Amino acid sequence: MNIVITGASAGIGAATAKCFFEAGHKVVLLARRKDKLEVLQKELGEKRALVFPLDVSSREEVETTFAAIEEQIGAIDVLVNNAGMALGLEPAQEGKLDDWQKCIDVNINGLLYCTHSALQGMIKRNQGHIINLGSVAGNYPYPGGAIYCGTKAFIHQFTLCLRSDLLGTGVRVTCVEPGLVGETEFSIVRFRGDEARAKSVYDKTRPLRPQDIAKTILFCASTPKHVNINTLEVMPVQQAFSPLKVVREE
Ligand SMILES: NC(=O)c1ccc[n+]([C@@H]2O[C@H](COP(=O)([O-])OP(=O)(O)OC[C@H]3O[C@@H](n4cnc5c(N)ncnc54)[C@H](OP(=O)(O)O)[C@@H]3O)[C@@H](O)[C@H]2O)c1
Repeated sequence: MNIVITGASAGIGAATAKCFFEAGHKVVLLARRKDKLEVLQKELGEKRALVFPLDVSSREEVETTFAAIEEQIGAIDVLVNNAGMALGLEPAQEGKLDDWQKCIDVNINGLLYCTHSALQGMIKRNQGHIINLGSVAGNYPYPGGAIYCGTKAFIHQFTLCLRSDLLGTGVRVTCVEPGLVGETEFSIVRFRGDEARAKSVYDKTRPLRPQDIAKTILFCASTPKHVNINTLEVMPVQQAFSPLKVVREE
């Protein structure tokens, strides 16, 4: 199958590319950092790993790139909408509008542009699979997460609505929703390059690894064609829920 993966230059996206490649598929690697994508392409070999640098938040770049991909490899069988990020962890009342906009541009608009570009071909062929990277952040709120959590809640509901609309076609849609995943650049990006703070997020705990999520995504794509996994939430054993908080008056 032909698998297109956004955000393949690091973390979960890179692991997903390797995982699908090892399962015998052709992988198309998308992200902004061409050098990182080319390192991965070198590791996998040019025959079944293609590189298309792009910024998913640019509608024009996405449309041109997806047209070029289909021209070069033919049908897109699976689109993994993985590119995503969070910026900052301050309370919303202290947040910067520019940061909010960036997060929405990548997590929501980027995912919509890619989905729109891949969808028409899938419907025409009456087959295909769109796998979106949501997050537990879309299901459980946490302080400082208003915008990131909001984008992931959007992805969750968008996935389910898309399922409703695609009923009667053979096109499948899934939202994979991981909890804490280590060995990625996620927290480094969130804390704007502060590696010590990023590292502290995973301190003395055993988070999921990118390969764990990659295998989950491969599993979703490998189920029989009549099966659709709608949402799949995955957490490390060392993560769970807390009770709601209340403020007590003195
Ligand atoms: N890590 C976690 O704990 C966790 C938990 C739940 C869900 N997730 C979700 O999983 C996905 C992958 O995250 P990760 O943890 O693997 O983070 P990561 O290591 O920071 O990887 C993010 C990827 O997204 C790409 N990206 C960011 N902005 C982009 C843009 N404008 N255009 C194209 N590509 C862009 C980055 O590539 P370039 O910088 O080269 O463009 C990178 O390849 C995200 O959607 C994230 O929200 C992560």
